[in-house]
Amino acid sequence: MTHPTRPHRNFYGRLKGKSLKSSQKTYIDEDLAALSPGAVGWAENPTRTDLDLKALFGGKPVWLEIGFGGGEHLVHQAAQNPDVGIIGAEPYINGVAMLLGKIRRANVQNLAVHPGDARDLMDVLPAQSVDRAFLLYPDPWPKKRHHRRRFVTQEHLVPLAETLKPGAILRVATDIPDYVRQALEEVPKAGFDWLAECPADWREPWDDWLSTRYEQKALREGRTPHYLTFRRAS
Ligand SMILES: C[S@@+](CC[C@H](N)C(=O)[O-])C[C@H]1O[C@@H](n2cnc3c(N)ncnc32)[C@H](O)[C@@H]1O
Repeated sequence: MTHPTRPHRNFYGRLKGKSLKSSQKTYIDEDLAALSPGAVGWAENPTRTDLDLKALFGGKPVWLEIGFGGGEHLVHQAAQNPDVGIIGAEPYINGVAMLLGKIRRANVQNLAVHPGDARDLMDVLPAQSVDRAFLLYPDPWPKKRHHRRRFVTQEHLVPLAETLKPGAILRVATDIPDYVRQALEEVPKAGFDWLAECPADWREPWDDWLSTRYEQKALREGRTPHYLTFRRAS
């Protein structure tokens, strides 16, 4: 993904884990380029700086999943919602490889994959172009001095808010109580309303939820999921 004025950014997470299986290397070599959100539209007009989402998804509503991990929720939503185009961003290449395997097996056609930082993707998403965003079990950064690395900071939330349509939904799931605190402080500042009306609204998963790998780990270790739903203010 290229952008003429892209700033340098630090990324603090993992980019690579254990060696990829040979099948996963094949998925990356054979499938990833065609799934790039820039694969369509830029080829015809390489001077453009934003993505041509109409060329990419034919005018379908666009959803975004930030940090999709192994991709199980992303593929689930794509399969359940063939009339939506979904872009996933994930810098961890082992996660990207896992996703590509799942895309092959599920044979979904309505996905695009940015194998990198969601901030670079948000640089090239047109303003007010995204209908729904998912931030599922973002990195918790438990130490206080690292809280500014969390996704729920204005550095990340302001560009996210700009890419979302007024009225668009942002779902945030986390098992970390202090992350809930920071999300409830910071997300509204970026122009969102928290939609909870009663405790069940943050204690119960969404009707179309598919539990992610990280959520399964959190449950095994005795932590409690929280499901926060925000709406981009009009
Ligand atoms: C704790 S894991 C959760 C993964 C998955 N959502 C799940 O629930 O299993 C957080 C993920 O967010 C990714 N991540 C962190 N910062 C990111 C960023 N700026 N853009 C995109 N993904 C990011 C990490 O690489 C990691 O895979």
